[in-house]
Amino acid sequence: MCGIVGFVGREEAAPILLEGLSRLEYRGYDSAGLAIWGAQDGLQVVKAKGRLQVLSDLTQGGATLHGSIGLGHTRWATHGEPSDVNSHPQVSERGRFAVVHNGIVENYMEIREFLQNQGITFVSQTDTEVVAQLLDYLYEGDLLDAVAKMLHRIRGAYAFGIICADCPDKLVAVRKDSPLILGHGEGFQMLASDVTAVIKYTREVTYLDNDELAVVTPDGVQVYDAYLQPVEKEQHHVDWEISAAEKGGYEHFMAKEIMEQPEAFRKTVFPRIRDGQVALDDLHFEKDYLEQLDKIYIIACGSSYHVGMVAKYNFEKLLRKPVEVALASEFRYSEPIVTGHTLALVISQSGETIDTLTAMREAKRLGARALAIVNVVGSTIAREADDVLYTWAGPEIAVATTKAYSTQMAVTYLIALYFAQMMGTISPEEYAAIVSELLLIPTKLETILAQSQDIQYYASLYFNHPSIFFIGRNIDYAVGMEGSLKLKEISYIHSEAYAAGELKHGTISLIEPGTLVVALASCRAVFEKEMSNVVEVKSRGADVIALTTEDLAGETAKTVDHTIAIPTTHPMLLPSLDVVPLQLFAYYVALQRGCDIDKPRNLAKSVTVE
Ligand code: G6P
Repeated sequence: MCGIVGFVGREEAAPILLEGLSRLEYRGYDSAGLAIWGAQDGLQVVKAKGRLQVLSDLTQGGATLHGSIGLGHTRWATHGEPSDVNSHPQVSERGRFAVVHNGIVENYMEIREFLQNQGITFVSQTDTEVVAQLLDYLYEGDLLDAVAKMLHRIRGAYAFGIICADCPDKLVAVRKDSPLILGHGEGFQMLASDVTAVIKYTREVTYLDNDELAVVTPDGVQVYDAYLQPVEKEQHHVDWEISAAEKGGYEHFMAKEIMEQPEAFRKTVFPRIRDGQVALDDLHFEKDYLEQLDKIYIIACGSSYHVGMVAKYNFEKLLRKPVEVALASEFRYSEPIVTGHTLALVISQSGETIDTLTAMREAKRLGARALAIVNVVGSTIAREADDVLYTWAGPEIAVATTKAYSTQMAVTYLIALYFAQMMGTISPEEYAAIVSELLLIPTKLETILAQSQDIQYYASLYFNHPSIFFIGRNIDYAVGMEGSLKLKEISYIHSEAYAAGELKHGTISLIEPGTLVVALASCRAVFEKEMSNVVEVKSRGADVIALTTEDLAGETAKTVDHTIAIPTTHPMLLPSLDVVPLQLFAYYVALQRGCDIDKPRNLAKSVTVE
């Protein structure tokens, strides 16, 4: 999704903005632009469709633009095709205001018509140009007054960076439902969609809250609420290293992040296990509350939703409470049955996914208590949830999630154990068995990663297949959904994940000689049933790769073409091991096909529009 960077200080702004934008490339975009104000040249705007490199070439790395205040933007098209003219910054007709925007202004058409009736001419198809034009129309010499009036007239979700040629010593930053942070340095201030864009320059940041507005000058920042009353904000220190957001010798961020999974799992889980007990110091749940739960509603999108699919099996087994998993985009508009006894478990890597955020708000409005699993510290979901458990995966840059998925999964295990123990629904023996297995997962992950060349070989056999199926039962099915999504996201191969037993009710008609089926067969409890389904596809000519545990590998080898064997573990924890070969398979297939692995077409890392 769109990325915003702003800088105001004493140095040339353009190179700093380009550097900041390069850190936001991972969010997904199709065009980029800069607006710089300089005493000599006034407001200078350069923007271009395509990669950031195009913009960098056009401006010689920013050297052709002079001025120490400016805004940069990477645009992921919503209103209007990707084009130079639709790129941001959008500038008002009189050239007084330049605006960058992340989000959607829902009532932009009516405002556009209103302004056109006043004789204002529009050049782009964007909702953002409407904001720049409206600001100029409302401006009567007081910048803040114009911004406040503009905000009263628009509806939607937005983070704005605003520059006004009449007040060239300041930027204005505003947010509602789209993320925006401020970075503070000696003699300079920045604004950005996320911390990665400013970390090279400063580790001191402020998270803007909804409906807040900041006036940003080289020497400081003043934040106001929606009524223009000053607000005192807490500054936060970011403690991760910039190297965490760099490739560190890997060809792609995705490869690096796959390899980081053992460590990310350790960081997320080990500090939360003390003396064999799950210790979630950040949570304060009571036994009575848990016993009275009528439902756990898991709400998420994409891969986070797939974590929820696995968690449903594990929670229902350990807690004996009904669990419903909802796609966040569906939850809000489906009249969900939520009461004061419902727990909403919200899962989000970014903590900014608008569908998940708005679904969480709706769940809370209906009476649920919201417990969030989030990776990005200080993100909106983390701040608005009643309780939050962070995954300590570190920054995840590749659009296709890997280590965030794995650490989210790890946190769901911890929650399941913690709740089950409190509710008395797990025996001490089983609890101890799961905890000790949990501590072995990182080493087992390392074993799997050390055999990645086998998976690379399978990828070399099948990378040209037009369609690939993933089948499984129970949690194997849930993990298959993630394997299939990974493959689609980065290799653009059509793929479907199917509950193995459901194949014969329709989808088996698509199996023909040579079709590749990846059969997840790691759940011992349903192994034989799964293998019956494997035989069904084999007898229709499919090539089958089985993904199973070491102790079952001998069995699958009798039937399938290739077997990938993972170490054995407690059945509840299998997804953590199963998913890694599937991530590697998707990665190597995409690599063979020459795809843009870290920035797949049309996708965004953090989806901040509905
Ligand atoms: C986007 C990403 C997915 C991610 C989903 C949910 O679609 O491309 O990888 O799973 O958003 O994101 P979240 O940050 O809420 O986990």
